[in-house]
Parts: sequence; C-alpha cells; structure tokens
Amino acid sequence: MSETFFVTTALPYANGPFHIGHIMEYIQADIWVRFERLQGKRVHFVGADDAHGAPIMLKAEAEHITPEQLVARIGAGRARYLEGFHIGFDHWHSTHSPENTALSQDIYRRLKAAGLVYSKPIEQFFDPVKGMFLADRYIKGECPKCHAKDQYGDACEVCGSVYAPTELIAPYSALTGAKPVLKSSEHFFFRLSDARCVAFLHEWLAVAGHVQPQVANKAREWLAGKGEQALGDWDISRDAPYFGIPIPDAPGKFFYVWLDAPIGYLAALKSYFESGKARANGELRSFEDFLTAPDTRQVHFIGKDIIYFHTLFWPAMLHFAGAPYRTPDNVHVHGFITVSGAKMSKSRGTGISPLRYLELGMNPEWLRYYIAAKLNANVEDLDFNPADFLARVNSDLIGKYVNIASRAAPFISRHFGGAIDYPGGTEALTQRAREVLEQVRASYDAREFGRAMREIMAFADRVNQEFDARQPWVLAKDPAQREALQDSCARALYSFKTLTCLLAPVLPAVAERVARELFGLDRALTFADALEPPRRIEPYQHLMTRVDPKQLDALLEPPAEPKPPAAAPAQSAAEAPATLSLDAFKQVDLRVARIAAAEAVAGADKLLKLTLDLGTETRTVFAGIKAAYDPATLVGRLTVMVANLAPRKMKFGLSEGMVLAASGPQGGPFLLSPDAGAVPGMRIS
Ligand code: 2FM
Ligand code: ZN
Repeated sequence: MSETFFVTTALPYANGPFHIGHIMEYIQADIWVRFERLQGKRVHFVGADDAHGAPIMLKAEAEHITPEQLVARIGAGRARYLEGFHIGFDHWHSTHSPENTALSQDIYRRLKAAGLVYSKPIEQFFDPVKGMFLADRYIKGECPKCHAKDQYGDACEVCGSVYAPTELIAPYSALTGAKPVLKSSEHFFFRLSDARCVAFLHEWLAVAGHVQPQVANKAREWLAGKGEQALGDWDISRDAPYFGIPIPDAPGKFFYVWLDAPIGYLAALKSYFESGKARANGELRSFEDFLTAPDTRQVHFIGKDIIYFHTLFWPAMLHFAGAPYRTPDNVHVHGFITVSGAKMSKSRGTGISPLRYLELGMNPEWLRYYIAAKLNANVEDLDFNPADFLARVNSDLIGKYVNIASRAAPFISRHFGGAIDYPGGTEALTQRAREVLEQVRASYDAREFGRAMREIMAFADRVNQEFDARQPWVLAKDPAQREALQDSCARALYSFKTLTCLLAPVLPAVAERVARELFGLDRALTFADALEPPRRIEPYQHLMTRVDPKQLDALLEPPAEPKPPAAAPAQSAAEAPATLSLDAFKQVDLRVARIAAAEAVAGADKLLKLTLDLGTETRTVFAGIKAAYDPATLVGRLTVMVANLAPRKMKFGLSEGMVLAASGPQGGPFLLSPDAGAVPGMRIS
C-alpha cells in the first residue's frame, strides 16, 4: 500500500514575523517532504497562521487596528521568507477561518456528546478598568517569596518560585495598572483525567513511531501526574472579550486558542482540498475520504516546547471526536536553535534574522545544508555556529560536491563535445550508486539528516579521490589516453548526478539547475535518476559561491547602536522651535504610561529609573527628574512617554523611551499627566 502524507509544522502566532526557530522547523519538514516526493510518495504539506488569543487581540488594540487587520498584515509578510528559503508549503491558511470555526465547533460538540466536556465556575482575576479576565501574564505584583516587585502572575523571575496569581502581594493589571478583583465565571473543561483518555493515551504513546521514545516518556510522566500534581482537566474556554471562536450555545464564551490551533491543521487541509490545489497535486479524493483512508499518514513537526498539547490533548481530542478525524501517525519533535551557544528567545526572536540573511544575499541553500547537517531524529538543540557554518558549507558543498562537476565537466565538453561514454561499463557504477542511495534513503527516512549528509559527503570524498588518482589533467595531454580520460570523467559525472539526487531534498534549487543546465533535462530529478548514467552534458556553469566571512559578520552584527541624541541646542523657553510638519509630528509615538516602579539610581545624581507600563509591555526609562520627585510618590501615577524613541545605552542600563516633563525658569521638571479616564497604552495625538 502506498502511503499519502499530510504534513504540518507548528502554526506560528500571527503577531510577529518568522524568526530563525520557525525557519529551522520549516526547513526540517520541507526536506522530509521533498525526500518523500523524490521517492515517489504523494505529500500534502500545509501551514497556517495561528491567529487567535489575547496577545493578538491586545496588540491589535494597541495599534488601533482590528485583529483581522493585524493577522492580514503579518500574513502578507510570510511569502518572502518561505520562498526565500525554498520552503514549499502547498497551501497556507489561517485558524481565523470558516473552516476552522466549523471544525472546532464540530469537534467540541462530539467531545461533549462523549461526556468529555463539563463546565464549572472558577474564580479569576478580573481587570475592572479593561473589563476583562486576566491571564497570568497580564497580572503583576510583588513576589510572595522574595518580595521582588513587578513579577508576573505565575512565577518570579528573580527567585524562580512558582505560585498562583492570587498569591501575589499588591497585584495589579499589567494592562491598565488597575487593582484586579476576583470574579467568578463559568468555564468549560476537557476531561483529560477521564480514565478513557488516560487509557487511550497510554495506548497511543506505546505505538512505536507515534513519538520519539524520550517524548513518550515525558508524556507518560505527565499522564501519571508529575510529582504531587495530579493530571488536571483542561480549561478550554475564555470569556469575552477574546479573539477566538465562539463556543456553541455559550454566549460570551470562546475556545481557548490552544483548542482551535491544532484544529487549524485540519482547517488548512480542508481549505487546500476545497481550493482545488489538492486535485492539482494528484489527490482526487474528498477531504473526508482522504482523512479516513487507511493509507493516509498524518505527520506533525513541532518544537519541544509544545509537546504537551500535541501528545496529550490533540490525540485525545481527535480520538474521542471520532471519524473522519484521525489521530496523528507521527509527531516529530525537534529541539531549539541556539546561536553560538546562546539560547534565543521565542517571543523576542533574537539570534539571527532570517530576513537579514536573505537581504545580505546569503544563499538559502547554505542554511538548508547546514541545518540538515546538524539535525538528527532526537530532541536535541541545534547550534548555529558561524565558524562551523563557514567551514562546513565551504568544505562540503563547494570543496566536495560542486568540485566534482566543476572539474570533470570541462574535460567532457572540451574533448568529447559533451557526450558521455563509459568505456569501463556502467554496471559497477550503478551498483555503487544503488548502495549509497539505499544508505542515504534510510537515513532520510529515519529523519537522521546529519547522518545522510555525512554519507553523501563520504561518497563525494570517494569520487574526488578516485578522480585525483586517475589524474585526468595528465590524461588529457595524451591522445592515446582518450578512453581513460573519458572514463574517469564519466564516472565522476555519473556520481555527481547521483549526489545531486541525494542532495535534492536539501538543495532543491541547485538540483533543479543541475538537471536543466548540466544534464539538459526538462524536468526535475527524482531518486530514480540517481541510478541512470548521464549520456551527455551541457557546458558547466558556475553552481555555488563560497560563504564570505564578511557576510557572516554582517549577519551576526548586533543591530546598529542607536546614535546618541544630538546635543540639544541650548534653548530658552522664549525661543520658538523651528516649525515641524504635521506628518513629522505624527511620527512621534506618544503614549499614556503608568509608572509601575521608580527608584533612585546608585551613582547618578539626577536620574530615576522608571518602569513604565504601556498596557501590553513595560519599558525601562532613565529620567532626569530626581531633584523634583521622591520615587515613592511616583508609583502608580500616569504620565506621558515617547514610545518610539530609539533605545539609548546609558551607563546604568538601556533607556527605552522618554517621559515628558515641563521646565522653565519658574522651576521643574513637572511631569505631564493625562486627565482621569486615560489608561496605559493610549495613544496621544
Ligand atoms: O507555540 C506556538 O507558536 C503556537 N502558535 C503553535 C501552535 S501549533 C498548532 F497547534 F497549531
Ligand atoms: Zn521571588
């Protein structure tokens, strides 16, 4: 039976551009998808934006746009990255779609009918100013253990203790600064602790291949109840206001984003089927028929941070929802990407910028190769190390692989008019091609890409050594050695063709060029071509340049240091400043900010360090107002800040903006304040 694959990668939140972690995952999945296709399998590879949830709703609100507009803007930027790195999703969709609404509501109804959904009232912090319940990350206060100020509602970043938001001392809403109140509301729960779920999940985890062994162990630990903590049921509802999918028959209630996010895989697939693209890809069955077919394989690539959702909730939801839904056949988990050993932040996306990589004119296939060379099937972190990147790409791709064609092809073109002949026969050559093909195929199949690259390069080494040993440049000078010259170059070019097929999942653009430009084919290569001796070539054209260390330096260079502000010209209050266009003024992003904390700065006479709360984020600002204000009196009050001032590195730390204050001969500085009713984050215009 020939399998057909339905492959996904984790759906990215639609509130920011892709970072290198996304790109690594997509490259891993894309290599695997291309590999399956090269060996003749049919694959449907879909992605989507994960559009729902409070952070997206709040970010849109802060920008005075609708969440739909925000999602559309972020979505519009996706193609540049995907095309840039040759990541070939067949279709890209969104969780904020009619398909996802219908599927999520359907799955929910089925789970409810199966007795796996119940509701009960829970007490939670509520922001009376914003009129919304606050997720832990939007509540701050003093740590109950070490008394550090401004800690999040779930854990203290200073002492590391974990607690409930209700344990915080002097809690406040990070959105408005208001004191949150406890309020009860009805929430819906998925009964993960149900004996049927637990039994099913143990069974599902026990099937070899569903997840890697270390992932199964982790999931079993959770199922057994980690430490003292019993396996809990899953809170799947959120109260309005929320950007999400309405829960049927429950006005004002929405599905928690993590319920509808994985269902987005199916929504993307459905939309792909309905768009006609699946048919164009040779898939003639309907969405439902495809899902329920015994030869379908549902494969998810994800990062290690979201194992819980994909190995407990997701299979259980699908299993108990019943046909046409099917449980995943494989959940492949990868580690994080670090840059020179430093962990990058998922939300801030530090590390190397994929867009900068492309803008610098760096070859996307270098990165694809480097990632492939470092990936294995385990849940291990992968380090991007610039020196290693340069060495591997230059020595393997240029020094070993490209080198074969660039050396052998010119002899065939010059001495034989491009015709390839095998005076020594092709049988032994085909046999060795078959052996390496089988070896590498097995490595790709096991997602041991690093091993596959090592096997490929070991073969390239062999081919280069053989070529060197035969010394075609010497043979070329002796007409009596014409046959030997032809044979040595033909062997090298046959192997080069095999190597190109083997590298095609990783280097799709190079493989395409080799097929057309060197071997004169009017189609792309497949694995079957690896065993076909080439019979003629076109003149060799340069295939790939070396990595230039300067490009790497530019890639890793920290973002340009903001220039220190030009020394303000001494200007008395009486002097009128030069006029400013309205457009120029509009470029200043003035916001209402709440002073969440204020403290003196050791060693600075004039400065206070202010922690400013902008509703959705906090900023540190050093302000020269110490002479006029006692820090304790500032905490809690509202003021006005310039929110888009380039951050300034100061002796005491980074200052991320400026507060506005008046001063003149009469005194000051006097901090500005908005009238009552203004809340942090409001735009001033
Ligand atoms: O962690 C994340 O970035 C999520 N947006 C992943 C969702 S994966 C799937 F469930 F949609
Ligand atoms: Zn603490």
